[in-house]
Amino acid sequence: MEELIEEARKRVLGSKRLVALTGAGISAESGVPTFRGKGGIWQRYKVTDLATPHAFAKDPRLVWEFYNWRRDLISKVTYNPAHKALVDLEKIVPHFALITQNIDDLHRKAGSKNLIELHGNIWWVKCSKCDYKAKDKRVPIPFPPICPKCGGMLRPDVVWFGEFLDMDTLNMAVSEVEKADTILVVGTSAVVQPAASLIGIGKKSGAFLIEVNLEPTEATPIFDISIRGRAGEILPRFI
Ligand code: OAD
Ligand code: ZN
Repeated sequence: MEELIEEARKRVLGSKRLVALTGAGISAESGVPTFRGKGGIWQRYKVTDLATPHAFAKDPRLVWEFYNWRRDLISKVTYNPAHKALVDLEKIVPHFALITQNIDDLHRKAGSKNLIELHGNIWWVKCSKCDYKAKDKRVPIPFPPICPKCGGMLRPDVVWFGEFLDMDTLNMAVSEVEKADTILVVGTSAVVQPAASLIGIGKKSGAFLIEVNLEPTEATPIFDISIRGRAGEILPRFI
């Protein structure tokens, strides 16, 4: 493992265009529960009840309770050494982009600048009827939250299962991985599309792929290096 970490460190520090792709595992050490695996949110709750457009249409109060619970939790935690290491890497390498599936805002809180949030952000709301969008940091958001523009119901500005990602955001992410020489994938089970497919796109374009995860994942076979360990312990060692 020591040799793998050393090789990954050299690759990362020698990179001209580095992309990091992160998932819930990078925030686990901050105290934000992951989705799959032990203690995962989707072990305790059904995704179809809480994170789909259908769930919101059927029971918006329940969906808002779920997001208010996550708002409360996320408002009480902060970034960890793994988030911080990615901030440092952005300062070291010539070009850096951070693509995250997380909605917890912890990368921004840590100070990452070139950040692409594939699944939205927990602190933003949008109207379920019109194009209204706003930042809203209230915890909790009182139910029912009403759109000031059209009177429709506001919803979290996040991507739910069965919804498309924002096209501009996804295109930006694809363009970054296509140009990257090195891609560092941290704390994702790599099962949710299209986010996971970015790894394969990077591979096709010739990038060197490094994975940091507690466990093997769906994508492990295509990585050049897979490091098993906690993100908060491994990433600071790259600097
Ligand atoms: P998952 O919960 O599916 O996967 C988390 C991954 O992090 C697992 O592979 C763990 O082994 C790993 N992990 C846990 N703790 C870690 C640590 N301290 N250090 C390193 N790795 C660790 O989360 P995501 O892959 O992010 O989407 O899930 C993808 C999407 O599914 C989420 O963005 C969310 C979810 O449903 C939507 O809500 C649309
Ligand atoms: Zn509206």
